[in-house]
Amino acid sequence: MKALIFGGPGQRSWESTADPGISEPTDVIVKVDATTICGTDLHILKGDVPAVTEGRVLGHEAVGTVVETGAAVSSLKKGDRVLVPAITSCGRCAPCKKGMAAHCEAVGGIGWIFGHLIDGVQSEYARVPYAETSVHAVPEGVADDQVLFLADILPTGYEIGVQNGRVQPGDTIAVVGAGPVGLAAMMTAAIAGAGRIIAVDMAQSRLKHATNFGATHTVVGGEDAERQILEITGGAGVDVAMEAVGIPGTFDLCTRIVRAGGTVANIGVHGAPTTLHLEDLWIKNITITTGLVSGTTIPTLLKLARDGKMEAEKLGTHHFALNEIEEAYDVFAAAGEHDALKVVLRG
Ligand SMILES: NC(=O)c1ccc[n+]([C@@H]2O[C@H](COP(=O)([O-])OP(=O)(O)OC[C@H]3O[C@@H](n4cnc5c(N)ncnc54)[C@H](O)[C@@H]3O)[C@@H](O)[C@H]2O)c1
Ligand SMILES: [Zn+2]
Ligand SMILES: [Zn+2]
Repeated sequence: MKALIFGGPGQRSWESTADPGISEPTDVIVKVDATTICGTDLHILKGDVPAVTEGRVLGHEAVGTVVETGAAVSSLKKGDRVLVPAITSCGRCAPCKKGMAAHCEAVGGIGWIFGHLIDGVQSEYARVPYAETSVHAVPEGVADDQVLFLADILPTGYEIGVQNGRVQPGDTIAVVGAGPVGLAAMMTAAIAGAGRIIAVDMAQSRLKHATNFGATHTVVGGEDAERQILEITGGAGVDVAMEAVGIPGTFDLCTRIVRAGGTVANIGVHGAPTTLHLEDLWIKNITITTGLVSGTTIPTLLKLARDGKMEAEKLGTHHFALNEIEEAYDVFAAAGEHDALKVVLRG
C-alpha cells in the first residue's frame, strides 16, 4: 500500500510500504475512505514530538471500511463503515473505565497512539488496535465528510472547551483562537446553548469563518481585545473563556476576561511556561481546566451529525484525493494563504 511516511524533521513522502496485518486478536484492518491532517502533524514534521520516529505513518483521524477482523472481534465485520478516532481505548483499564481514554494504560498511558507511537491512518489501509472499544459505526446515510472531524477536533472542542468549561444555556463565552479547534468549540457551545459567543483571532479571515460556526461577536486579538470583550459583557467578563491557540498571551487574556466565578478552559497545546497571576485571580473564585480529548462525546456528536443538527463538514474547506496528500500538506501548512480550515482526503 501507499502511506504518508515521516522521514525525520521536515521530511515526509507518499510512498509504498508493507500492508498492515492483524497483530493482536482485538485488531481490525480498515481501508481508509477519508482522512485529514491535524496541526499536530505539522508539529511532528517540525520535530517537536520526538516520540515519533523515522518511518512512522502519520495521521490520527479517519473514516474507513473494515476489511479484516482479529479473532477476538465479534461486533465488527467486514464491510462495516467506522469512524476511527484519534484516541484509542482498551475499554478495560482504570482511566478508560472512568471515561478518560486519553490516558489509556494499555496503550502506554496516552490514548493518542496513531501516527505517534504506532502507524497512523494517512494511508490506504490501517491497523486499528482495540477496535471494538475504540471505533464507532457511522450511521447509515451519513457521508464521510459529515463525521470525519468527529475523530479529533469536534470532541476536543466539546469535551475540553464546552464540557470542561461547564457551558450553560444562555452563557456568554469567549473562544480565543478561531482555528479549526476554536471553531469546533464554538459550534458545540452553540449546540450546548451558549447565548453570546465571542470569537477572538488575529486573522480577519478566521473571524469571518467564526460567524459561520456560531460566533455572535468577533474581536481582533491583541492589545485592545480585553477592553472590547469587557465592553460586550458590560464590564463583568465572560462566563467561560476558552483558550484555543496555545501561547502564554492568549491564556493570560482568558484569565483577564473571565468573570468572577467563571471558568477558563484551556484547549491549546502549550510549549512554553505561562505566568499565572494568582495575585489577581485568588479572589475571583474561578476554575481553570486543562485536558487532552478522550472521545467520550463522539456517540453524542454522531447523533447530532446524523440528525442534521451539526454541520461538521463545513470545517472541510479543501478536498483532495488521498494520493494528493503531499499537496494537501502544503495547503494546510499555509492555511492562511489558502483560507483553509481542514483538508479532506478521499481514499
Ligand atoms: N487539548 C487537546 O486535546 C487538543 C487537541 C487538538 C488540538 N489542540 C490544540 O488546540 C490549539 C488550536 O488548534 P488549531 O488546529 O485550531 O490551530 P490553528 O493554528 O489552526 O489555530 C489557531 C488560531 O489562533 C489564532 N491566533 C494566533 N495568535 C493569536 C493571538 N495572539 N490572539 C488570538 N488569536 C491568535 C490564529 O490566527 C489561528 O486562527 C492548538 O494549540 C492545538 O495544538 C488541543
Ligand atoms: Zn489531531
Ligand atoms: Zn484503557
